[in-house]
This record gives sequence, structure tokens and C-alpha cells, in this order.
Amino acid sequence: MMGAMGSFDVLPDSIACLILSKLESAQMVAQCAMVCHRWKTLARLVDTLTFESFKLLEKKLDKNRNASCLETIVTQMLLKTHGIRILKISYHPVVWPWIPNDYFSEDRVCQWLQHVNTTLERLTLVDPNRARPQPKKLLHLTDCKKLQWLNLCYGFIPVLPASPGRFEQLVTLHLDLILIYDSALQTLVELAPILEDLKLNSCKGLRTPHFTALKLTSLEFANDMDVATTPITMVTVNAPSLVSVSLSHVEELVMNGFTLQNLALLWHVRPNIRELPVLESLHISGESWALDCVTHLIRLGTNLRSLRIDAFFERKYPIQLQSLLRHLQELVSIHIGADFFECLQTAGGAGAAFMRMHAMVLPRLENIMVVISCGNNNCISVLVSLLKCAPALRILRIDAENLRKSMDNVMFFSNLLGLQRDYPQVKVSLACPQTLL
Ligand SMILES: *[C@@H]1O[C@H](CO)[C@@H](O)[C@H](O)[C@H]1NC(C)=O
Repeated sequence: MMGAMGSFDVLPDSIACLILSKLESAQMVAQCAMVCHRWKTLARLVDTLTFESFKLLEKKLDKNRNASCLETIVTQMLLKTHGIRILKISYHPVVWPWIPNDYFSEDRVCQWLQHVNTTLERLTLVDPNRARPQPKKLLHLTDCKKLQWLNLCYGFIPVLPASPGRFEQLVTLHLDLILIYDSALQTLVELAPILEDLKLNSCKGLRTPHFTALKLTSLEFANDMDVATTPITMVTVNAPSLVSVSLSHVEELVMNGFTLQNLALLWHVRPNIRELPVLESLHISGESWALDCVTHLIRLGTNLRSLRIDAFFERKYPIQLQSLLRHLQELVSIHIGADFFECLQTAGGAGAAFMRMHAMVLPRLENIMVVISCGNNNCISVLVSLLKCAPALRILRIDAENLRKSMDNVMFFSNLLGLQRDYPQVKVSLACPQTLL
């Protein structure tokens, strides 16, 4: 240990400071600062600090452990530094239900932000204020002209004050568990002209958010339904550079889709999308889907490489495999969940007739995963159709964990062995209940 400290002493200040900055955690930096005068000086020059209540307050008794404890620590340390670029201040109350008014004072937060306003680039602020909006905090954030990355957790984003500054450099904005209304989100996005990445996780208060974001490439509405109880009715996005969209618990999505490459939808969404000419990956999962919405998206996605349909449908009806997939000439990988497979399966005979008339070839298809619950002849004929149309197929995985012992399934295993004999180049793997083997 002494040896290590000895070598630390010969390092030039700039390097020693870099090492201290790598420590991040405020208590470690503080401990180092106590070692000697030089370290004390160096500790003021760190560019990264993390204040984490779980670590800083762990030894305190519950009743003494509140936001103002952390507030004191942050104030003492942060105001001595010069040049913080990366700052994380997170206070997670552990007492449930939360103590009312146990959050940082807005003036304090403003003082911290003002202190770092010329250098701050990344900020994570977890401040469990759910009582009242804090507009001054936002004003001070817009004063941080180098801010590129912002994650706010908890709290209330109000209608923004008139003529605030702008987030000129802000590229990433993540909001977790925030109460924010449609108009506030719209203004916030407008204030960030180069925003690329917007993520809202379990935020409340949004109904029909709509915004224009010229540089936005990634949009995510994640939701933990335990927290946000009402789904968002409609998301309308005008974002001509958008590449990836991931939504959960949104009822309708309105966008043009021209540049979209990845689309992931959890829980039913009514897509109001004009075209998806460059979509590569479509992942649909969750409850309450309308089958029409799914087939519509697949038809739009002419360049799909990866398709995953893991959804449950309100009303199932037969779908012909060929009519649905034959345009997907770039398809490499497909995952067909239980409900969707059932729709293909019930179309069985009709599908075969269609097949004779329009031979389908999916030249790039390499991986197929299907989830089946009934191994009847129609199931096998869907599998045959898939094998026939995919000359490049390497892997067929069948999840039959829900297969029951029944007459329908008696022939299933021997039919499957037959398939494996006919397509020796394909690795067929089967997962099924032990009792059936
Ligand atoms: C940053 O804070 C200082 C006070 O610490 C203030 O005088 C200055 O106006 C602030 N900078 C900006 C860009 O608002």
C-alpha cells in the first residue's frame, strides 16, 4: 500500500487528478483528500463526482437519513471543486411510504448547478421531489452551456418558464418517473436543437405528446405499468432522422417512418405510419394486439432482416404464410410466437393451395424460431412451407413446451424426424416437456 502511494506521489498533478476523477465516488475522493495537502488540492480539481445516497448514508439510522444529509455532503464537497464535467447526485429514499418533503431544496440544487455551469457536460440528478414543479432548476440547467447528457429522475417538469435559454449542446435526454405534460415535453424538445436520444421511462402526465426533433435518432417510451397506470393515447413524432423507436403502453404511433431501421413495440400499438422502406428489425410483443396492425407493419417492412412476433392477439384468424412473408426477400431471422403460429396453422390447407400457385423463396433466411402449442398436420405443413422456401436455412428451433399429450400430437415427433431426414443441412432443435418424450 505504501509503495502504491509512493508511486502516486511522483505522478504529475494532471495525471494524479485524472486518477482521482476515475474514483468517481464522492466518499473515496473525500478520503483521499484527507491524506495530505497535495491530495486535498488535487481533489478540488477532479472532473467527475458521484454522490450516491446508498453509499454515503448507509451507516445512518433511517430516521436521520434524509435528503438534507446528502445535501450537506454535496454542498461541502461540490462547491470546493473547479471544473466538474460529470456529476451524479442521487438520493433514493429507502423509507416507504416516502417521507413528504424529503427532497433537495430547489435553491440548493440551483446553487450546485450554478457552480458547475461553465464545465458541466453530463448530469444525473435523482431528486425525489414529487410535490411541486421546480422551474428555476430547469433555468439553471439551460445555463450549463456544455451540457450534453441529462438524466433526471423523479420530479415534476412544469410548463417551462417564458423565454428560457436553450440546451444548445444537449444530445441525450433521459427522464425517469417524471411528471411532465405534453406541452412541457414539446417545449423541452424544441429547446434542444441537436437532441439525438430521447428516453422517457415511466413518466406520468403525457396524453398525446407530439413534437418535432430534426436530429433525433432514437426514441423510447418505456413503461413500468405498476407506476404509470394510464397508457399514452397517441405519440406523434416529426423526426426526419429517426432510426430507432421503442414504445410500450402507447396506443397509437403517428410518424412517417422513412428513415426508421428498428421498431420495437410492447403492448398493442395502432401504427399510423406511411412507409417503412428501410426497416430492418421489427419486434412486436405483449398483450392486446390487433392482428391487422401486425400484418400491416409486416407488409410495410419490405426490407426486414429480423422479424419477431411475440404478441398475443385479441382476436385470432387464419393468415397465409406465403401471402404474409413472400415480399421479405432480405429476411435473415424470424421468430414466430405461439399466437401468431396458431394463426398460420389454422390457415394450413388454404396456405398449401396458395403455395402451389405462388412459390415463395426467402433466399437469406437462416434462423427460424417457432413456438407451437398443437402439433397437428397443419403445424407440420407450416414447418414444411418454411423449410421449403429457405435454401439458406441453418437453424430451426421449435419451442413446444406447451404441447400436451393428445391424439393431435401423436404423429408430431415422427413427422419432425421425417423433416430432419429431408433437410439434413438444417439443425433442428426441439424443446418440449419431458413427459412427451
Ligand atoms: C454561471 O454562474 C455564475 C455564478 O456562479 C453566473 O454569474 C453566470 O451568469 C452563470 N453563467 C451562465 C451562462 O448563466
